[in-house]
Amino acid sequence: MPATVLKVDQNKPDPVVVNAAARVITGGGTVVFPTETVYGLGANALSAEACRKIFSAKRRPADNPLIIHICSMSQLDSICRNVPDTVRTAMERIWPGPVTLLLERKQLVPDIVTAGLPTVAVRMPANPVALALIERSGTPIAAPSANIATRPSIVDSSDAIKELGNVVDMILDAGRTYFGIESTIVDVTRKPYVMLRPGVYSPDDLKPFLGEIASDMRNTKENGSQVPLAPGMKYTHYSPNKPLILITDEELFRKIPSITCRVTLIGTSQMIRGLAGDNISLGDGENTYEVASNLFKAFRELEDKTSLAGCIHPISEKGIGMAVMNRIGKAASRTIGSETDLRQYLDSL
Ligand code: TXA
Ligand code: MG
Repeated sequence: MPATVLKVDQNKPDPVVVNAAARVITGGGTVVFPTETVYGLGANALSAEACRKIFSAKRRPADNPLIIHICSMSQLDSICRNVPDTVRTAMERIWPGPVTLLLERKQLVPDIVTAGLPTVAVRMPANPVALALIERSGTPIAAPSANIATRPSIVDSSDAIKELGNVVDMILDAGRTYFGIESTIVDVTRKPYVMLRPGVYSPDDLKPFLGEIASDMRNTKENGSQVPLAPGMKYTHYSPNKPLILITDEELFRKIPSITCRVTLIGTSQMIRGLAGDNISLGDGENTYEVASNLFKAFRELEDKTSLAGCIHPISEKGIGMAVMNRIGKAASRTIGSETDLRQYLDSL
């Protein structure tokens, strides 16, 4: 059955729409809803049966746990134990917001949500629709990013309707999400705290709230022999349905239109200005938030072009740029720095 699609204003959600979505959640169904980061594919976090529907709709491997979204500290206490006071104080300052914290779980949380791990990932989203939906449902909502597994995350409701219109019960159609890139995940069960996935806020941004945060490089694709701490980070991820080539050399990137007309260039407006071809702009390179919010949309736009592949140029890794480069690194099929290698790779496609 096709999903029911309901339009909703992200900043002023109509209670009638929120109630309709909450009824789907309490009835054990699935709802695609906006958060301030990306769209989530949600179900009642306390129902194993409802959460099973998330895994099958997304075609997500069972060993990849879900983030639980909450709207209050009492919901936090219903699913987590031993939350240190220092972490609680930090939460009160950073939530609602795009930061997911790994905490000790209570038994109430179904195994399917945590993939059997002793920890659970939790966040309080800063989006009025998401918060109202959780509140009206009266239960925490488990929600991974709303894309089909391995695909780019969804930041625009039109893409949610296209990709999930036949596999979920309801889609809340709210246009573009605010940040357009996922939350930062920090494991606060260990000292020092460890960042498992870069996101909207960098470790430096979070330092005033959480202190020093280490990065765990076991989560990189390159380091495949070790166990990743956030299981999802080991999978092919964020990839458009055609090759995406990361071009590390700026001069080579600018020269591409003279080498081939078979690729689409993706870059900041400064990088692609004046270059021939039907290229995709990520917006003002001076504004990394703007670039981040356009990234996943650009990956999906690339799919609609007739080109053979996309070529993307790195941006600064400062702040949210760290998350942008992490997603590009995972989505890219190849990293290339020389014209010979580029020609060879294009010939092989
Ligand atoms: O911004 C976001 O975080 C979005 C919105 C919808 O909230 N959600 C999101 O969920 O990005 P997802 O499922 O696409 O990514 C969650 C990541 C996965 O890599 C998963 O492996 C990891 O979090 N994760 C979840 N629970 C975990 C746990 N208990 N231990 C380690 N990693 C965990
Ligand atoms: Mg995801």
